Amino acid sequence: MTAKENQFYLGNSKLPTPDSIYDYSANPEWVIDIDKCRKNILYFAENFFYIVNLDKGKMKIGLHGYQKRILRTLRDSRFVIMLSSRQSGKTTLMTIYALWIACFFEDQRILIVANKETTAKNIFKRVRLAYEQLPNYLKPGTVEYGITSMTLGNGSSIGISTTSSDAGRGDSCNVLILDELAFIDNGMAMDFWKSVYPIISSSKKSKIFIASTPNGTGNLFHDLYSGATKNENGWVHERVDWWEVPGRDDDWKNKTIKSLGSKEFFDQEFGNHFVQNGESAVNESLYEKLKAEVREPAFVFDDGHYLLWDTPKTDRIYVAGVDISEGVGEDASVIQIFDITDLRNIEQVAIYHNRTINPVQFTSKCLEIFQHWGSLHACIERNNCGGQVVDQLRSAHNYENLVTYGPKIAGSVYNRLGILSHTNTKYKGVMNMRYFLNEMNAVKIHDKQTLLELKTFIRYPNGTWAAAAGSDVHDDRVMSLVWALIVLESEVVDRYFEVTEHDDSRRPLKLKLLDYGLRSVVDPTKFMVNIKDGSSDAPLPIIINPGGYNDIDEVSMLTEQGWTFMNK
Ligand SMILES: Nc1ncnc2c1ncn2[C@@H]1O[C@H](COP(=O)(O)OP(=O)(O)OP(=O)(O)O)[C@@H](O)[C@H]1O
Ligand SMILES: [Mg+2]
Repeated sequence: MTAKENQFYLGNSKLPTPDSIYDYSANPEWVIDIDKCRKNILYFAENFFYIVNLDKGKMKIGLHGYQKRILRTLRDSRFVIMLSSRQSGKTTLMTIYALWIACFFEDQRILIVANKETTAKNIFKRVRLAYEQLPNYLKPGTVEYGITSMTLGNGSSIGISTTSSDAGRGDSCNVLILDELAFIDNGMAMDFWKSVYPIISSSKKSKIFIASTPNGTGNLFHDLYSGATKNENGWVHERVDWWEVPGRDDDWKNKTIKSLGSKEFFDQEFGNHFVQNGESAVNESLYEKLKAEVREPAFVFDDGHYLLWDTPKTDRIYVAGVDISEGVGEDASVIQIFDITDLRNIEQVAIYHNRTINPVQFTSKCLEIFQHWGSLHACIERNNCGGQVVDQLRSAHNYENLVTYGPKIAGSVYNRLGILSHTNTKYKGVMNMRYFLNEMNAVKIHDKQTLLELKTFIRYPNGTWAAAAGSDVHDDRVMSLVWALIVLESEVVDRYFEVTEHDDSRRPLKLKLLDYGLRSVVDPTKFMVNIKDGSSDAPLPIIINPGGYNDIDEVSMLTEQGWTFMNK
């Protein structure tokens, strides 16, 4: 006899109530199944646990080798922490364990905590799907069945929560499962931890299972995991590397790195790499190497704001990166000029840096400097007052070579002039800079201040990059460097250049300007006053009469007064 209609929870035939009656004597294999499942979590998982596979839809799970290993560890240990690659079946393991305990052991309270409410609800959906797919004879009846918790006829329950809610705090549970702990705000994770850990650890049998992808150091997940690997805290640790997941080989890795845009990102998402928080954009050895290229500028113009290490040449390709501030003395407006003719040897040729220039004056300054370098391609951040500068350059000055780059919004191509700095574009920009700077060792920086800013440009725990905290720490020179090089980013480069040579990872190695030959440079060293050679308020050159005038030899007279010839 099977359950009658009125013995289903809300009439759902997959949710029998505890009153449902099963004829076990006519089906002795049911009894065997229940017994086997209780004793063997792997048997339960492989014979009865359903997942939704992206390609195949609803299917019974076939456990991967490491999943079997970890389920055994979960069964046998109280405190387990797992470091794991993305999409390796972490959450699936949690749902299997939670449902197994709830179905085959009485009065168990299982709490699953995730970093976000939607994630927690999604996990719970997966638990519910698996519960519904179990044959009715195998599962305890349904007493309560909601979107955040379910209670079964054997007194066991499974619930979900986030660390920000009060659920789970103050009262005990038998199994606490924390998904993606490294991605829970650390302050919140610590508060939660302080309120639940003492309760759970004081009960002799309660278990905690934590799994996460790494997210930097200095957070609860990293502390617990590294403590476990050093046998310091009594936790058992498990680790799943990307190559353990079926279908992931070197080919897959290379493709994934390409689509993620950086090896570093891959290392964090799939390589179980704890990227050091506060890591500087340049490490000690790169810093020393870069320092060897730092030198005094050859020319110092414009009251010391405009420094040049070379004069503009017509047969070189230059690019400008521009970061703009309001000009009120805090952050600076910066123009970086780089020679990108050979991408194995990208060289800083000039920088303009000014804290007090307003956006209107800065627009003229950009125009002037861009013309020095052959009306080069300019990558100008358009956030805040940058928009005004970019739009003026185009509409009032007809400046053609403005690079456009921004986030894709709902799949549509970004088409406003300039560079829109946004979490994504900035991240890509920094990764792109690090590719040329750190991985390829291809960037020569001559400006001491730029190098110092790079040293204090650090990675924050949430993965973003910015100047280290401090009253006089800036990143304007670095951000303008980031934007200068963004023109080499794979998505951007083909729009402005013909790439004549690529490296193995399809990054550009050599460029040809699409409209090469049309440009001419304006060498500022021919008409600007180089402060390095004398006083900053040297007069404009005047034509004097060397042959004497009214019997006065002006040259001798001026020489006597202490004047000397320029360029002599
Ligand atoms: N043994 C398996 N066989 C086939 N598919 C599986 C297996 N284990 C998990 N999956 C499927 O792989 C996908 C990823 O699994 P899951 O969400 O558990 O991984 P995850 O490591 O938590 O991923 P994320 O890093 O995105 O949180 C899911 O669609 C899941 O159903
Ligand atoms: Mg997951």
